[in-house]
Amino acid sequence: VIFVRRASEPDLEQCVGVLACLADYFTPDTHDEVRKAFLQHPAWVATLDEEVIGFLLVERRYSSTAEITFAAVLPDRQRAGVGTALVDTALGSLAHEGVAVVEVKTLDASSGYEPYVATRAFWERRGFHQIDCVDPLPGWQPGNPSAIYVAALTATR
Ligand SMILES: CC(C)(COP(=O)(O)OP(=O)(O)OC[C@H]1O[C@@H](n2cnc3c(N)ncnc32)[C@H](O)[C@@H]1OP(=O)(O)O)[C@@H](O)C(=O)NCCC(=O)NCCS
Repeated sequence: VIFVRRASEPDLEQCVGVLACLADYFTPDTHDEVRKAFLQHPAWVATLDEEVIGFLLVERRYSSTAEITFAAVLPDRQRAGVGTALVDTALGSLAHEGVAVVEVKTLDASSGYEPYVATRAFWERRGFHQIDCVDPLPGWQPGNPSAIYVAALTATR
């Protein structure tokens, strides 16, 4: 049975282990980024037999908005609803805390990079809408056009 729960510090290295299995998506420098962010920001993990098979990390910079900064599921556990369960649980909890709009940044279609076709399909199926493409995005390597997606958790007007 797959469980989704709030993450805590002992889960960190297993989450980094998930990124390490996804080299087409996460360069090695992201491992330390996650190590740093994990201790400061809310995260959720999906577990199977107490092993972490996926996680999601969120950054709260303003009271009514949030950004999903990382989402990852082990390759052999993808397409089984784990990512959806992580997103549903995290967004449910954020909505409860008064978050109205959630952002996620991913690689834009204009990159022509095939692995992210499924990623954009995932966010779109989860109710995210693309509002912009920024290239170069500060902090991202040039040549990686960033697709900016948002989802509303509640009406804002
Ligand atoms: C994106 C990711 C977190 C989704 O987790 P997941 O457990 O695979 O997702 P789910 O099983 O809940 O949902 C699968 C959905 O993704 C989309 N999807 C996944 N693979 C796809 C593919 N090869 N082609 C088209 N759509 C695909 C579909 O919309 C699918 O929904 P459907 O089955 O209802 O049609 C996971 O696939 C992953 O870790 N990918 C690599 C890393 C990554 O891209 N992270 C996000 C960076 S912004």
